[in-house]
Amino acid sequence: MPLKTGRFYECAEVVIDKRRCTVCGLCVKVCKGSPLFIEENKINVDQTRVFGCVACGQCMAVCPNGAIKVNGRDMTPDDIVELPDVECRANYDSLKSLMISRRSIRCFKDQNVDSETINKILDAASTSPNGLGSSDVEVLVLDGKEKVEELTADLMAALKRNKWMFSPVILRILKLFMRKETYDSFSTFAVTAVGTFVNQYENGNDWLTYSAPLAIYFHVSPYADPADPYIPATYAVLAAQTLGLGSCMLGVPNIILNYFGKGLKEKYGIPRKNKSGILVIFGYPDLNYSFALKRRFAKINWMK
Ligand SMILES: Cc1cc2nc3c(=O)[nH]c(=O)nc-3n(C[C@H](O)[C@H](O)[C@H](O)COP(=O)(O)O)c2cc1C
Repeated sequence: MPLKTGRFYECAEVVIDKRRCTVCGLCVKVCKGSPLFIEENKINVDQTRVFGCVACGQCMAVCPNGAIKVNGRDMTPDDIVELPDVECRANYDSLKSLMISRRSIRCFKDQNVDSETINKILDAASTSPNGLGSSDVEVLVLDGKEKVEELTADLMAALKRNKWMFSPVILRILKLFMRKETYDSFSTFAVTAVGTFVNQYENGNDWLTYSAPLAIYFHVSPYADPADPYIPATYAVLAAQTLGLGSCMLGVPNIILNYFGKGLKEKYGIPRKNKSGILVIFGYPDLNYSFALKRRFAKINWMK
């Protein structure tokens, strides 16, 4: 049965060029949507098997003879491109150096990010994996300080309107209904954060989006894995760093948009049903760090 996404209800079409195909079987090996199989010494396509073609493109990418064309679900045969030379690919040390020298940046120079640079970030981020084969991730680009300020003003207005929900009286009532962890997060994070954001904003300081000159919001349809926006966001953060930009992921704007920002999703062209999302701010850092930091997972449970 075709795998439904926010955009697609039908399988993609798969065409095998029999003159080029050597029936090596690599396409069948990588195909987990499962329309491809070998029978009578040829590659066959049966879209009723498992999900049918989800347009992951793996068969086109693995075929050494260019014998497969996938069309549909946002994929065309033109989407196969040359693999970069091995020498051009980052190795472990260079990638780890990039990663360990990243910091969340909240102090930016008063300098906009040009469109070419923004497109490079988006281009790199769009290569990320996703849970559906063809991505359901939608992207809102707020290009320039004024656009980010407008979103911030809208989010802050929503937060101010709902500040009463974070008062001690409401907190005491919520405690009766909330799980311990939710209550703890609410009382130790949300209450302080909201109070701080509002106070700072009233004093002319933006502690929500930190006066950034660029913000990109990654969000997904309810069909997608809720983790889907975070992966291109992470790629974007690393890509931006290679271009001399700093960035910071912001989870709070998504909470405001979903719970307090009535009418805001419509204003910014975000489907109301899209709940999972992450805002990332970018800009040229206004400070340099002298050291990197080590980090640890909460726990590694290694079973051998
Ligand atoms: C999912 C996610 C949500 C975050 N939300 C916020 C936020 O709303 N505001 C903020 O200032 N930082 C936010 N951060 C940034 C973290 O606070 C930051 O990553 C953390 O302090 C570690 O610092 P580092 O990124 O420099 O290692 C978020 C990070 C992640 C991964």
